[in-house]
This record gives sequence, C-alpha cells and structure tokens, in this order.
Amino acid sequence: MGYDARAVRDCYPALQDGWAYLDGAAGTQVPRAVMDAERAAYAAGMGNHGGFFAASQRSDEHTRAARAAVVDLLGAPAPDGVALGPSMTALTYRFADGLAATWEEGDEIVVTRLDHDANVRPWAQAAARAGVTVRWADPVLPDVELPAEVVTGLLTERTRLVAVTAASNVVGTRPDVRTIADAAHDVGALVYVDGVHATPHGPVDVAELGADLYATSAYKWSGPHLAAVAGDPEILGRVRPPKLASSSDDVPDRFEYGTSPFAQHAGLAAAVDHLAGLAAPDSALPRRDRVLASLDAVADHEAALLQRLLVGIAGMDHVTRVGAPARLAPTVWFRVRGLTPDDVARRCAQARVNVWSGHNYAWELAGLLGLRDSGSAVRASLACYTIEEDVDRLLAVLAELG
Ligand SMILES: Cc1ncc(COP(=O)(O)O)c(C=O)c1O
Repeated sequence: MGYDARAVRDCYPALQDGWAYLDGAAGTQVPRAVMDAERAAYAAGMGNHGGFFAASQRSDEHTRAARAAVVDLLGAPAPDGVALGPSMTALTYRFADGLAATWEEGDEIVVTRLDHDANVRPWAQAAARAGVTVRWADPVLPDVELPAEVVTGLLTERTRLVAVTAASNVVGTRPDVRTIADAAHDVGALVYVDGVHATPHGPVDVAELGADLYATSAYKWSGPHLAAVAGDPEILGRVRPPKLASSSDDVPDRFEYGTSPFAQHAGLAAAVDHLAGLAAPDSALPRRDRVLASLDAVADHEAALLQRLLVGIAGMDHVTRVGAPARLAPTVWFRVRGLTPDDVARRCAQARVNVWSGHNYAWELAGLLGLRDSGSAVRASLACYTIEEDVDRLLAVLAELG
C-alpha cells in the first residue's frame, strides 16, 4: 500500500504546532501511541524488577516487550542479546570498557573519521588505557565517501575491533558495512556498528550487515530517550563491563545499570509497533514483516524529499553542500555564503523551521574538513513525517539569504 505522510503526521501531537521539524537527526517527535503506552504503564502500577508481586512483574514485562521489539526492528538474533540503556553513548562506553578488558598491549582497533564521536571516543579512550593502537580510517574528500578498502586496508591480525557507522549523522554517507565486516571477521575482529542515524531511514538486518553489535537510539525513531545495543547473546556474554558486585551478571542485564525506566520500555515497544504500522496496517502479519515493509516505504518517501531538497540547494549559488556521497541517509549538511551556520539556523528558526548548526558531534569529520573552527555547517534531516511543504519552507528561507 502507499505511504500516507499526512496520516502519519496526524499521529504526532507535536507536529500540529506549525513548525517544520527538519531536526530528526537530533531526535524525532513522539506519536500519541508512545505517550499512551507510557501513561498506561504508570497508571497500571509498576514496581522494581524481579519481584514476586504483580506490579513488579508488569515492569519486567515492559522490559521483555522492549527487547522483543528491538529484535523485530533490527532482525537481531535474540531478545537476550538486546541491552537497553539511557543513550547510545552510555552503552558504547560500557561495551568499550568491557571489551577493552579482553584486549592486550599491541592489539589494534579501527575507528573512522566519518563517525559520530560516540562511536570513536569511547573506543579510543579505552584503547589508550589498554595500550592498544588506534588506526584511523579517513573518509575521502570532498564527497565524504568511506570506501570499504579505506577501512579494510587498516586491518591486521592484531585488529580486535572495527567501529563503523551505518550512516553519517551529518552528510548521510552509508558505507558498505557488509564488506568491511566480512574482512574484519576474516582477521577475527568484532564489528560494532553505529546504527543510530541509519535505523529510522530504511530496513535494517543486523545479520545481513555483518554487525556483531549494533547500536541504535529509540529517540531517533519516534521512541523515548533510550538506546539499545543488539547482538548475539554469546557475544554479549564475552563482554564484561564494570558493574556492581551485587547486580545481575546475566546477559543482557549486566549492561543495564541501576533501575531501568520501565515506562519508557513500554514506550519503546509502542514505537516499534507504530513504525510497523506506518505502511503495513494488517496487524495479523508478523511485526518483523510489517517493519520491513513500512521502512521500505519510509525510505522511498524520504528519498523523493531528499531529491527535492538537493535539487533546491544545488540551484542556489550561495549555498554549498558539504559532501556528496553516492549512497546516503536523507540528511544534508551545508553552508551559506557570508553567514555562520548559527546565523542560518537562527534565521530558519525565525521562519519556524528547525535545523541544527555546528559539528553535531561529527567531531573528527568537522576537523578533517577544516570546518570545526568556523561553526561547521547547517544540518537538515528528513523523517518519516516530513512533507514537501517542510522542505519547501527551508528552501524558501535559504533563497532569501542569497
Ligand atoms: C550517528 C549517531 N551516533 C551516536 C549518537 C549518540 O546517540 P545518543 O544520544 O543515544 O548517545 C548520535 C546522536 O545524535 C548519532 O546521530
């Protein structure tokens, strides 16, 4: 069935305020179904987890449902391989600390200058503590492509980990993760894929990607401010993050510090149900199938809007796009002649258009491009609820800045 973006928008109370939300890469809005699920969880009563009474068991059920939802969203191996946490950054630090304990001096890891800093710094800092060499894969400029061979050329028998993004959160570049993963596996390295930016923009299959561990943040795909790392439970079992002596050593519980936000777990599961229903309303079908069909439709919808945005920008001499990757998520980074990125974002806000300015944590890339000290760039990103009018409003503001 076709994709009805206007019907999708009706599910999101926040979108009724008249602003153009082109800031999805920094976090999407939340549909009513997610709010209702969280409200219902609180209303029904919850207790801390692992108790013998019903309120506690309801909390455990929210966690179980959230893990199952992540499996359906990502095609992940098993609910027991889904660690939930407050953010991808926090979880990645836990995995980096845990994995570094298995590294030996002289080992190596590979990170990229395309990645968000959250998939760079935790690894680089853990490597420094463990006496492990960090090898840096630089994207090729000016298009900001990351050809697989740039990463695979850095692999040796000592490589223990490759951390790579499934999509850049600023220029959108989608590296060939599968080819990178195959080569990494050939030398016995683990592959940690940052799927935070990629996940909402098309079907994800963790096995097809070759990701041993795949990180995603629910607040980028209509869910609450939560994140997950998914992988084979056996792989999670090899990772020992620092933890309390008294807390569970089970997988994935050992990664989930303290008391979990159970109502948000209910919200996360509702967000996956919402995504599944975007273009596949027949709830008799397995949720995984509906997720795949819906995210296919979202990808097509966003691709058409991206084209409109790119053509509009290309027609303005005073606007310069940063990077031009061949395969990309629907996210554009650009500068406007004579204005700082902050000035541009401010002018957009005056026209009720949400865009971001700055490095957006693409710290290494902003440095490599020589843009970090001049405010980096302006980012516009599309989401499942973006419509042509949103894109046209941004283009109209940009046209006035010429
Ligand atoms: C590609 C990418 N990776 C990682 C992160 C960090 O995610 P979190 O905010 O959940 O720590 C972000 C957040 O913007 C991101 O876009």
